[in-house]
Amino acid sequence: MTPTGTEALRDLVASNLVTARERTELLTGCIDDGDLVRQHSPLMSPLVWDLAHVANQEELWLLREVGGREPMHPEIDPLYDAFEHPRAERPTLPLLPPAEARAYAHEVRGRVLDLVEAAAFTGSRLVTGAFAFGMIAQHEQQHDETMLITHQLRKGARALTAPPPPAAPADALSLPSEVLIPGGPFTMGTSTEPWALDNERPAHQVTVAGFYLDTTPVTNAAYAEFIADGGYDDPRWWSPAGWDHRQRARLTAPLYWRREGGGWVRTRFGVTEPVPPAEPVMHVCWHEATAYAAWAGRRLPTEAEWEKAARYDPAAGRSRRFPWGDEDPTPDRANLGQRHLQPAPAGSYPQGASPAGVRQLIGDVWEWTASDFLPYPGFTAWPYREYSEVFFGSEYKMLRGGAFGVAPVVSRGTFRNWDYPIRRQIFAAPHPPPRPSLLPRPSALPPSSAAGA
Ligand SMILES: [Fe+2]
Repeated sequence: MTPTGTEALRDLVASNLVTARERTELLTGCIDDGDLVRQHSPLMSPLVWDLAHVANQEELWLLREVGGREPMHPEIDPLYDAFEHPRAERPTLPLLPPAEARAYAHEVRGRVLDLVEAAAFTGSRLVTGAFAFGMIAQHEQQHDETMLITHQLRKGARALTAPPPPAAPADALSLPSEVLIPGGPFTMGTSTEPWALDNERPAHQVTVAGFYLDTTPVTNAAYAEFIADGGYDDPRWWSPAGWDHRQRARLTAPLYWRREGGGWVRTRFGVTEPVPPAEPVMHVCWHEATAYAAWAGRRLPTEAEWEKAARYDPAAGRSRRFPWGDEDPTPDRANLGQRHLQPAPAGSYPQGASPAGVRQLIGDVWEWTASDFLPYPGFTAWPYREYSEVFFGSEYKMLRGGAFGVAPVVSRGTFRNWDYPIRRQIFAAPHPPPRPSLLPRPSALPPSSAAGA
């Protein structure tokens, strides 16, 4: 995103708001009202809550804070305050029914587009560079990802369709398995990205030791070998907390996988099919990702290692916005924006490769890192404490890189996502680097009937 001038910024804001709304309308328009108000999982809101919450946040920040307007429906504000009502409780609230939620969202958006037409994007920090507008476009796109997760949890016939991602390129099978990310300092975070959120700021120097990183995400085939080798039954690979959780939650495979015949099938967006071996594995929690990495004689990258691999250009001695450079994501560089409803095979998107040759760091699947959610040195909460600050600590683990369900406006080399280490419904995977071996790598992996399923 490199807007120059007020008109370019106006176009950028409008196009991002429109893109987000098109996706929201598709996600809430492809099912009937019963499915909109139903809670498909206690982990998620009814979709009709997301719809009105998106509109309510847009009204709060853009019409009231930026535009100085009076509240349109102050009585509904508490219903859509995410901090006041946890997801499990939202179906019991007197929510706006679907038609009213749509009308409210439409009304807010019309007034916001009028505001965008007249905005100068200078003055307060909130409007400089159109920050608040960018924040709201990102917020809606984040809820579009949340709603896609709800669709995946929903039972019933397929409601969403999309073309598959392109086939893997010819060199996908001949890539080196890992590449060296050189040691030394690099710039992590940003002080210049106009729409970066508070937790991505400020830019600061971090030194990491050299390490090797896998060239591609971990595949379903590789993960199936971990299962076939008894990985879920061997406490050596699990942290004490991870083993405890694996026992209590009776984890035996990624969420949505089940055995059928000699192999694995999984259900995705209403369609059951054999698990595709070359696709990046998804729907594993942080504990599973960590155990997989340990079994493979490795560990998860730290957040700093991930960002260095994704952004640092050794030839230029600087950090890029994205693995491929500073230009915004395009369909040939990364699988983003729900264009496809699945990750592309491991080794795809050569034009999105990092300087060292790592592919799919942005897009396809979120990647769990070893790190807790901590502020960068010099962090200040902006524009409100509840965006990031209240989540800092060891309770959450960091995810990087975005997934196929994430929009380009919420995807950049500095973007930080966080979740509980037991979460599996998110589109997340491990991406391990080797470790100077404390754990033995299994010398000969047994052949797995599941691996090719
Ligand atoms: Fe929200």
